Amino acid sequence: MKPTVTLNQGLDVPRLGLGMWQIPDGDAESLVGTALEAGYRGIDTATSYRNERGVGAAVAASGIPRDEIVVTTKLWNSDHGTDEALRAFDASLERLGMDRVDIYLIHWPLPLRDRYLETWRVLEKLHAEGRIRAIGVSNFTAGQLTRLMDRCDIVPAVNQVELHPAFQQAQLREFHAAHGIATQAWSPLGSGQGLLDLPVLGEIARAHGRSPAQVVIRWHLQLGNLVIPRSSAAARIRENFDVFDFSLDEHEMARIASLDTGQRRGPDPDTFDYG
Ligand SMILES: NC(=O)c1ccc[n+]([C@@H]2O[C@H](COP(=O)([O-])OP(=O)(O)OC[C@H]3O[C@@H](n4cnc5c(N)ncnc54)[C@H](OP(=O)(O)O)[C@@H]3O)[C@@H](O)[C@H]2O)c1
Repeated sequence: MKPTVTLNQGLDVPRLGLGMWQIPDGDAESLVGTALEAGYRGIDTATSYRNERGVGAAVAASGIPRDEIVVTTKLWNSDHGTDEALRAFDASLERLGMDRVDIYLIHWPLPLRDRYLETWRVLEKLHAEGRIRAIGVSNFTAGQLTRLMDRCDIVPAVNQVELHPAFQQAQLREFHAAHGIATQAWSPLGSGQGLLDLPVLGEIARAHGRSPAQVVIRWHLQLGNLVIPRSSAAARIRENFDVFDFSLDEHEMARIASLDTGQRRGPDPDTFDYG
């Protein structure tokens, strides 16, 4: 499997990147450094994770050419609106120590405030100016994406959503595929809430001499998802990247498909209005 895919806006991005939620800024530089040494070329941060400085420092210190690393960051909920979004974007760039962001996402749609179209037009402008290489969204429903595509010019490159074996989002994935939007899975391992202990995953892992986390990451890759597992441990960061030399067969994919509960664990994008 090729380690990158080309987004609808033309940017080549790694299928597998490092998630940065809940990583303190003080740990970010060393963990991102570990990931880059292990072969990762995608890092997923956000304004609200408060670790953009550490991420930027690690990218700068890595010695890897800047255009080989894809850094994603996100516009936080309090920054919807034209002036707010422009300010928030500049502040992210300053913290990252960069002159452009590779992927910039609207973190949540906040339909109750209904400012995401206005905010999206700011991202379109920054993209046109070359200050963002690809623009996308996170936590958008098919209905919100449809409205955005009807009313704005650029189709989002990515929609980053909750997606793991217990919440597989088949309909939304189909919608994305039909519109050329990449599906990026957040909490791909179930965010440390026992998902990896499910016996089916253990059985498949043993059959391959792999860990349950590696099996789940491989499942995401074979579905075509972009995937961004997080770990605060260097050994697990390396383990989670070591997934390109085995594959799950149809029967194993079907067994994991049967783990879907249809229940999200995180907030509902239609009602979430925090921050
Ligand atoms: N857009 C959004 O609204 C949104 C929301 C949530 C998350 N995200 C993004 O998605 C990323 C991933 O989601 P997440 O952070 O919720 O969780 P996750 O990646 O699904 O799971 C992380 C948990 O799994 C454990 N883990 C990692 N590798 C492991 C391994 N090989 N074996 C056993 N356990 C392992 C970690 O523990 P250790 O640290 O102890 O290894 C941690 O508790 C985030 O970091 C963030 O970048 C985005």
